[in-house]
Amino acid sequence: MPQKRVGVIGSGPVGQKLASAFSSLGYETEIGSRNPEKLKDFIAQSGGRITAGTFDQTAAFGDILVLATHGEATESAIDLANPKNFAQKVVIDASNPLDFSKGMPPGIPAKYSMKSLGEHVQEKLGDAKVVKCFNTVPNEIMFRPKFEETSMLICGNDSVAKKEITRILKEFGWAGSIDIGGIDNAKWLEALVPLWVRGALATGNFSSMFKFVQTEAQSTRR
Ligand SMILES: NC(=O)c1ccc[n+]([C@@H]2O[C@H](COP(=O)([O-])OP(=O)(O)OC[C@H]3O[C@@H](n4cnc5c(N)ncnc54)[C@H](OP(=O)(O)O)[C@@H]3O)[C@@H](O)[C@H]2O)c1
Repeated sequence: MPQKRVGVIGSGPVGQKLASAFSSLGYETEIGSRNPEKLKDFIAQSGGRITAGTFDQTAAFGDILVLATHGEATESAIDLANPKNFAQKVVIDASNPLDFSKGMPPGIPAKYSMKSLGEHVQEKLGDAKVVKCFNTVPNEIMFRPKFEETSMLICGNDSVAKKEITRILKEFGWAGSIDIGGIDNAKWLEALVPLWVRGALATGNFSSMFKFVQTEAQSTRR
C-alpha cells in the first residue's frame, strides 16, 4: 500500500516536530502556515523533502491531516484551510485551548470549558474523523519518546481512524494508545494540560508526561 500523504496545519514547534517525524518515516509531508515563506529555513533543513503551503493548500494536499495550531485560533485556521478539504479524512487534533490571561499556569478559556475544542473541531468538520492525540505531551517527546512502554491517551468517534492513529503512534515509537472513548471526552485530554503545566512547574521538569500506570499486565491498551 503506498504511504499516505500528510498535511500538517501549523508551523510552530508542534507542527515542525510532527512534519519532520512523518517525513522521516517516509510519508510525503507538507506543512502549512498563513505565511509559508517563513518556513524557508525549515524546508531547507529537511533537504526539500517537506514542502510548505498555505493552510488551504496543505489541507488539500494531505490524506491525513494534523491540526497543530494555536488553540484559540484553531477554528479560524480551519476556516482558512477550508473545511471541505477535510471531508472524510483522518484528522489528528493536537491543539489545546489555553488561557494565559492570568499568566502562568494557564487555565481553559470559558468558551472551551463548556464544550471542548476537540468537539468544536469535530462539529466544524462534519464527516472528518477527528482523533484528539499528541495534545497531552510536550513536542520534544512526540516522536521517539524516551519513556519505556508508554501509551498515548486518545479519543475520537471513529474506531477505524483510531486504529490508524494507533498504528502511526507505534511507528513513532509509542507502545500504543489508550482510547478513552468518543470526541466528547476531548475535554478530559484538554484539561490534563493545565494540570501538566502545574506538575512540570512543581518538579521543574517540562520534559514530562502523564503515564497511566496499571498494577497488572492485563492491559486493554491497543
Ligand atoms: N508546544 C508544545 O509542546 C505543545 C504540546 C502539545 C500540544 N500543543 C498544542 O499544539 C498547538 C500548536 O502549538 P505550538 O507550540 O506548535 O505553536 P502555537 O504558537 O500555539 O501555534 C502556532 C500555529 O498557530 C497558527 N496561528 C496563530 N494565530 C493564528 C490565527 N489568528 N489564525 C490562524 N492561525 C493562527 C500559526 O500560524 P502561522 O503559521 O501563520 O504563524 C502557527 O501555525 C497549540 O494548540 C498547543 O497548545 C503544544
